[in-house]
Amino acid sequence: MRILVLAIAAGFLSSVSASAQDAAAGEKVFARCKACHQVGEKAKNAVGPVLNGLFGRKSGTIEGFNYSPANKDSGIIWDEATFREYIEDPKAKIPGTKMIFPGLKNPQQIDDIIAYLKQFDANGKKAEIAPGGAKLAKAQVAK
Ligand code: HEC
Repeated sequence: MRILVLAIAAGFLSSVSASAQDAAAGEKVFARCKACHQVGEKAKNAVGPVLNGLFGRKSGTIEGFNYSPANKDSGIIWDEATFREYIEDPKAKIPGTKMIFPGLKNPQQIDDIIAYLKQFDANGKKAEIAPGGAKLAKAQVAK
């Protein structure tokens, strides 16, 4: 019963929310990146560089991370368009990258992960999710 209520609430809320990009869904997609990447205020470089403040950042510029020359010299500025191309097929966008990831093929998942990553500023501080977004949904379901 509880699962049914949750499912209905989730379906209802996602249909009223006008946003095509869903940060909460993006968090789940990010599980696929987590083996190598961190975000948030305590994020550290791991197998891959910290992904805080990604959008607007020049590729290969996280201090203390040992990038491949391919990534460092790609000249890419990460915005939605360049990120979209990259994450769909990292090796096609940056030949020689040492990121071993086959790519996200589902455009909805790419939209969602963009929404998720956009929440984190350069210091890893997370912006509040707008009213009607995932946080509100959780609060209502908890009642
Ligand atoms: C197996 C480990 C691994 C996984 C999984 C992985 N990455 Fe990476 N990622 C890396 C490494 C290593 C680099 C650095 C590449 C280089 O220097 O060539 C990187 C680089 C990047 C960059 C470029 C960062 C910059 O500062 O220029 C972005 C953006 C990125 N990854 C996003 C993602 C996202 C989003 C996911 C999940 C959908 C993901 N990665 C999954 C290892 C990984």
